[in-house]
Amino acid sequence: MIKQDHLLTLLDYSPEEIMELIELSKKLKEEKKQGIPHRHLEGKNIVLLFEKDSTRTRCAFEVAAADLGMNAVYIGSSGSQMGKKESIKDTARVLGRMFDGIEYRGFAQKTVECLAEYSGVPVWNGLTNEYHPTQMLADFLTILEYKGCLKGLKMAYFGDGRYNMGNSYLITAAKLGLDYRMVGPKDLWPNEELRNKCLEIAKATGAKLAFTEDVKVGAKDCDVIATDVWVSMGEADSVWKERIDLLKPYQVNKDVMALADPKAIFIHCLPSFHNLETKIGMEVYEKFGLNGLEVTEDVFECPQSVVFDEAENRLHTIKAVMLATMKHFYKI
Ligand code: CP
Ligand code: NVA
Repeated sequence: MIKQDHLLTLLDYSPEEIMELIELSKKLKEEKKQGIPHRHLEGKNIVLLFEKDSTRTRCAFEVAAADLGMNAVYIGSSGSQMGKKESIKDTARVLGRMFDGIEYRGFAQKTVECLAEYSGVPVWNGLTNEYHPTQMLADFLTILEYKGCLKGLKMAYFGDGRYNMGNSYLITAAKLGLDYRMVGPKDLWPNEELRNKCLEIAKATGAKLAFTEDVKVGAKDCDVIATDVWVSMGEADSVWKERIDLLKPYQVNKDVMALADPKAIFIHCLPSFHNLETKIGMEVYEKFGLNGLEVTEDVFECPQSVVFDEAENRLHTIKAVMLATMKHFYKI
């Protein structure tokens, strides 16, 4: 049984706890598919705080809450007093009096930590600059579904390694014993402190962790190829040029997929810039002439791309996180 009240970062979870959440997600997914009700948290109320935009995370929390019998209230980046007229500490103590659980998506990890410290109810990280733990559960459930195992799998993450996705892949791969390669320019690798922490974890789990600027070394024989956007939410538009210059050699395209195992899967947390059908994609094209950024259209749309299974798994895994932590916290 999970003995955790919150999910702030997977650094706080043991490999066994992470696997337990993935197994619970599988069970809840099966129940949902078979129409078996699982309203284990009937009557509880949760609040969803989004200081940054979201499609998947917001919808996954709302649908999961409804499936579990809970009511969810959404608060966006405007319309509340949080952070403007009221400190996070005070907001936490107010919300904790009204709600049984809090989801937070925003900027600093210390904000979600403050909510957990002062609200007195379970808190879940729906993405901060530093980590995206619920995304990891969905990604590794998807990998498990396609590959049948996680330990020893060869996985490469291409791109910006020092933000939420890059940090979180490194942590999860270390915890679950993968053969993991961070592939990108040295300046965008996870910071030294996190790298050392994960190398320590790897000693106990048998994970192999490599950091390389060499695309061929990174992609060779991989079972899983992952990437993320080159500029994340909350970063200034002015970083686009510098980021494109740094990351263009690390675009996931047919050549990269050809270096991987022929049965390799491609994953991406989404949203993704792979064509000109988005406003930002078009603006970047007009300025820099690129019609696909972190991944090309042909890879995104190829049969090896499992990004929509991955997106669906956000629902089942977020449901598992809420259920496991609330069961522990409320001794249900
Ligand atoms: N992957 C992810 O977190 O998507 P949203 O930004 O749509 O929530
Ligand atoms: N790194 C991205 C992930 C989006 C789900 C961002 O923070 O915008």
